[in-house]
Amino acid sequence: MSYNNFYMVDVKIQDLKTKKNDYIGKTVQVSGWVKNCRESKTTTFLEINDGSSFKPVQIVIEKETNAKINEETLSRAMHLGVAVTVSGVVVTAFNNPNNIEINAEVINIVGDCAADYPIQKKKTSLEFLRTIPHLRVRTNTFMAVMRVRNALSMAIHNFFQKRGYFYIHTPLITGGDAEGAGESFQVVAPDFKGHFFGAPASLTVSGQLEAEEAAMALGRVYTFGPTFRAENSNTTRHAAEFWMVEAEAAFTNIDGIIDVVRDMIKFIIRDVLATCPDEMAFFENFYEKGLINKLQQVADNDFVRIDYIEAIEILQKSGKTFNYPVTWGVDLQTEHERYLTDEYFKSPVFVVNYPRDVKAFYMKQNEDGKTVAATDLLVPGVGEIIGGSEREADYDKLVAAMQARNMNIDNYHSYLDLRKFGTVPHSGYGLGFERMLMYMTGITNIRDTQLHPRAVGELR
Ligand code: 4AD
Ligand code: MG
Repeated sequence: MSYNNFYMVDVKIQDLKTKKNDYIGKTVQVSGWVKNCRESKTTTFLEINDGSSFKPVQIVIEKETNAKINEETLSRAMHLGVAVTVSGVVVTAFNNPNNIEINAEVINIVGDCAADYPIQKKKTSLEFLRTIPHLRVRTNTFMAVMRVRNALSMAIHNFFQKRGYFYIHTPLITGGDAEGAGESFQVVAPDFKGHFFGAPASLTVSGQLEAEEAAMALGRVYTFGPTFRAENSNTTRHAAEFWMVEAEAAFTNIDGIIDVVRDMIKFIIRDVLATCPDEMAFFENFYEKGLINKLQQVADNDFVRIDYIEAIEILQKSGKTFNYPVTWGVDLQTEHERYLTDEYFKSPVFVVNYPRDVKAFYMKQNEDGKTVAATDLLVPGVGEIIGGSEREADYDKLVAAMQARNMNIDNYHSYLDLRKFGTVPHSGYGLGFERMLMYMTGITNIRDTQLHPRAVGELR
């Protein structure tokens, strides 16, 4: 019998579970993939999932009493990955009065699954799964990651929409390197004579410069899109393609933007804990003991905020030998960040007022002539998840900062115009979306937070 012979409409498994009282005693049809199967002498159990619910639904097949399901169908269904359509009566689960299961009356095979299907009951390593990104999404881990990724995206939008921020879309192909760090991928049209865009073009490393333009009209804006960096660092927290959330607010100083960051982090944590209880329980069980409590603490407590100079003092007094020695003026390395978050504070930390020379040209220069009004938010286990600052709003100071870095000022006319035409104090930040996901799930490699990770030497 083909799939088309069914005239009943599928019920989503999520619907069955959330409205179970409407369904108990009724005959329904569900479709999904077999996630688990086992059998006893008299009964076969299939767990199937259509993806609507994190947890599968159990299908119970009484072999003796169920003549409509023949031996051949049953043996074809008894493989992980097979797609099936089942109809049967919804009943209260035998072992759990809060759950339901389906007593099958008809089973149809929609698509068989070949014997070399690599997702089997035996737990496979994340390393192995990285070699099969097209299939790993079917595992519990990646279904949970994708579901939390979805919830986190929506939480971010909800936060900004509630606060009157406009969602803007900044270009992915740009002329300049926003961070001035020389880490951009070039965009070329090989068969085109000369530069396709009339000038060298690259994939964006950040939408900040364009977000600043929009903030000078709309007041408060945010972007949420892909960014690309050709960083040749093969670490567990760097991706060549990652998503960044960037907020930009006019008439806002560094303290104001730190408050926005704090409120956003608390909001999105609470939102995901509320919308994804099953997934978060899964991460707690399999990836990070204490995860939910950790996040709850962050949502409920104030954030630690220290000056860069205090960070340096703490590191110098730590008694640790770091690979990169600590003196005023150095950029904080991962090992330094991790000491501050994982060992010293055991909580997220805002570090504020970094030395001018380790940060980007656009950051507001403090009156001391040495530091800029910049902040990084560091979190245990991951390190930096957010970089932000007040922006230099003074035309002459900005030009001076660019000259000091030997930047080509001709490339930044539009950016400088913002300081000519009604300049105002303004601030913004960028959240590395996958790093936030790592922090929220306990997943320790950024490659396991994306559908198809892109990193140096990796293009699967
Ligand atoms: O600190 P970054 O470089 O800041 C900016 O790009 C600013 N323009 C943001 C702004 O103020 N609008 O990057 C922001 C965040 C980092 O804190 C980190 O979480 C993430 O983006 N990030 C990466 N995530 C994954 N892979 C990479 N290669 C990343 N580089 C930065
Ligand atoms: Mg940074």
